Amino acid sequence: MTGNRENRMPAMSKSSIETVLASSIQKKKTYLEAVKSHGSPLYILEPEVLAQKARQFKNAFESELSKIKCYFAMKSNNMPLISGILVQNGFGIDVSSGLELAAALSINAEDIVFSGPGKTEKELLMAIENSSKTTLLLDSFGELKRLEKLVHDLDRPLAVGVRLNNNPTGLWRKFGIPLSRLSDFYNEAKAIPNICFKGLQFHSSWNLEPDRQIEFIEILGTHLKTMPEDFLNALEFIDIGGGYWPPQGEWLVSENPLEHYALPAQSIESFAGRLAQALKSNILHRVDCTICLEPGRWICNDAMHLLIQVIDKKEEDLVITDAGTNTIGWERFESDYFPVINLSNFENRERPCHILGSLCTPHDVWGYAYFGKSISEGDILMIPMQGAYTYSLRQQFIKPLPRVVAAEERGLFTETEFQKTWNF
Ligand SMILES: Cc1ncc(COP(=O)(O)O)c(C=O)c1O
Repeated sequence: MTGNRENRMPAMSKSSIETVLASSIQKKKTYLEAVKSHGSPLYILEPEVLAQKARQFKNAFESELSKIKCYFAMKSNNMPLISGILVQNGFGIDVSSGLELAAALSINAEDIVFSGPGKTEKELLMAIENSSKTTLLLDSFGELKRLEKLVHDLDRPLAVGVRLNNNPTGLWRKFGIPLSRLSDFYNEAKAIPNICFKGLQFHSSWNLEPDRQIEFIEILGTHLKTMPEDFLNALEFIDIGGGYWPPQGEWLVSENPLEHYALPAQSIESFAGRLAQALKSNILHRVDCTICLEPGRWICNDAMHLLIQVIDKKEEDLVITDAGTNTIGWERFESDYFPVINLSNFENRERPCHILGSLCTPHDVWGYAYFGKSISEGDILMIPMQGAYTYSLRQQFIKPLPRVVAAEERGLFTETEFQKTWNF
């Protein structure tokens, strides 16, 4: 990390970390019980946290906009149980491949949006076969042409939309079509029997605040003024994507193991209020349509944690754990900060120590400090809030993958037991 960047980075407040520590320590007994009964390492899923997040997200937007639909972005955590819980809480599912579409169908999702670049013919056919449940968000003119060849003998028209590119520079240019070609796209789509053009989608990632989304809503509003009346009448939805950062903000490591940085994020209520205002004043006053949302990270981030165990204490300030970062699929903790909480010997004080995994690579890092009185072989460590873009990215590399245990007030459940009790 460069000196310049560090100078600009705000330090993390004590209170934000204390909230996380307090909620983890409050449930310490349950987590330790989970390891005792099911072994280590483990992913701990908290279905009640997930359901609460789903309700809060939906409420925030429902209280600002009259017609909304929420779709969980399955890519952020592809554990079917998670999508199943969200469907039972009134969410649809946002899928980006045939594999994800099959998973969404397997948990009885009735309302699915399928977006993403480079869909294969097989994936397009799957969307067609499941047209009563699926809206296909097309990514290019080529994809529209490929679809045209596949939709001859449909009983019911396939609902489609198109993704708009909202960032034509650099690598983001791969997504969607330019706004300037929307009119051509609509005319081509309209001419194809058996498809029914219904909406637009755009998405931007990693928004700590809604400014970038609002900027595109304003651009889109201006462009819609140039579109013909029949296009505006055809628009049933505008899908404004995901990319909402969890309220605790982005936590980053610094060169000092006991100092961390935190980039603040706006609350979801603030996102909802500001996005609704922008949508009403730029678009909804002219077009009466449903606003669709595709949150991933915001919904699942806080609902899953990792429990790992110290296997080898090599030095006072160097321990090796039973799990490696193949369980999260990337070298996350070299840049992102999350507390390592020693559940076996907790103290509200952070001590420097290299907490490293057991893979044969030095990039296998959990953290550079832990909260605890001391650290010893056999101690159970918790890495909280690992629900987003970790489980989906896990890889079978050197070490086996952990099992998932669901922790609820009524007890601990393996994935299969939980599936049975929820009737998936
Ligand atoms: C089209 C689309 N929608 C939704 C999401 C979910 O984003 P997030 O998990 O940041 O909310 C993504 C993530 O890449 C995406 O590409």
